[in-house]
Amino acid sequence: MDRMLIQSGYQLNGHVKTSGAKNAALPILFSTLLAEGEHTFTNVPLLKDIESTADLLASLGCTTKRDGNTFSVHVEKLTSFEASYELVRKMRASILCLGPILAKYGEAVVSLPGGCAIGTRPIDLHLDAMKSLGATIELKEGYVLAKAKKLKGATVLFEKTTVGGTENLMMAATLAEGTTIIENAAKEPEIVNLGNYLNKMGAKVSGHGTGVIRIEGVEKLHAATHEIMADRIEAGTLLIAGAITGGDVTVENCRPEDLEALILKMKDCGFKIDTTATTMRVHPLAKWDATDISTAPHPLFPTDLQAQFMALMTVANGTSIISETVFENRFMHVTELMRLGADITPKTQVAVVRGRPGGLTAAPVMATDLRASASLVLAGLVAKGETLVNRIYHLDRGYENLEGKLGQLGAKVTRV
Ligand code: UD1
Repeated sequence: MDRMLIQSGYQLNGHVKTSGAKNAALPILFSTLLAEGEHTFTNVPLLKDIESTADLLASLGCTTKRDGNTFSVHVEKLTSFEASYELVRKMRASILCLGPILAKYGEAVVSLPGGCAIGTRPIDLHLDAMKSLGATIELKEGYVLAKAKKLKGATVLFEKTTVGGTENLMMAATLAEGTTIIENAAKEPEIVNLGNYLNKMGAKVSGHGTGVIRIEGVEKLHAATHEIMADRIEAGTLLIAGAITGGDVTVENCRPEDLEALILKMKDCGFKIDTTATTMRVHPLAKWDATDISTAPHPLFPTDLQAQFMALMTVANGTSIISETVFENRFMHVTELMRLGADITPKTQVAVVRGRPGGLTAAPVMATDLRASASLVLAGLVAKGETLVNRIYHLDRGYENLEGKLGQLGAKVTRV
């Protein structure tokens, strides 16, 4: 199993490009199930989660093809309406095939995703949303059986903001009869990217990116082509990598407007950050101040950058209070950061980080989930000595060639 060895003491400097967004690519790849034909996407990152999606699409009867970062899905009438446990357990986002299959074929069978390292992460809101459009839902032997001759548009108020739930409902509603209004919809940029692709396929979606999304059902959709948006979480991770080493790093091919909450917090710490429409640059700073963050749905501070920001706070001047309000168990990186010498008191959904500038020392650590892995790599860049991060396969689920990109900026990172 791959591990990553990080040698500290190298300041990161230079320019680096962001890849396409995993969290935009996944729902968009599942949305292809809504329309027969050849769908072609550019800027699709090379990641394990994309491979898992391709496997699931193939198991349903689609053909996928990759040529570098161009990825196409050829969809004919599906040969199966079932997403098996074997495939779904590898990637929770597989639940996103439920809405499209149900809407187009009137029935779908999807395995329950089961446990997850960052909390229970139920799918009740996805299922309630399908019921609101008239589907019957049965749970049997670990599977969700969903049926509806024809989905019917409705007003659906999500009692909790859910990115995946909003996406599943948007996709299902495109082929429903009548109009669907989603209230308290998630506003993440990936939702906008999905809505734009649905519209290219002939759907009538409006308001995506706001809290109220309106979808007028249509009879049929058609395949189209689309560019996957830049990965804002990867961009943020690379910016923090520059900052934590006191370096001068410009992240290119990104959209700083999607990362306002992170940029504001980094400025609070004293970092000078310049932005253009597609780049952000962090200027060198030897010492920075601690600041508090609280994760919340977009446009507030993203939970997917909480672990990486915590790494930055472990070597800040002062104390930072980090609150995680989106997931109930997303502090697994805390004990690993403590192995590197970080001074952190974790409580339920809140962690108190007492910064120790220059105070981390290398140790073997273990990655527990995707973003936790990234935070350990960042801490490893400044923990004196050689840090060995075990179970790096988590990183491969969501970061395209992270060691190559960090290496290009001057870090000494190797896969062993
Ligand atoms: C997506 C992202 C993930 C990110 C998260 C929050 C993808 C593939 N993944 O995950 O990287 O961390 O948004 O920004 O895009 N919930 C329920 N019932 C449900 C659904 C969700 O209680 O049916 C809860 C979850 O447990 C969590 C919260 O709602 O506490 C938000 O989850 P959600 O926004 O749905 O996250 P995902 O779509 O799974």
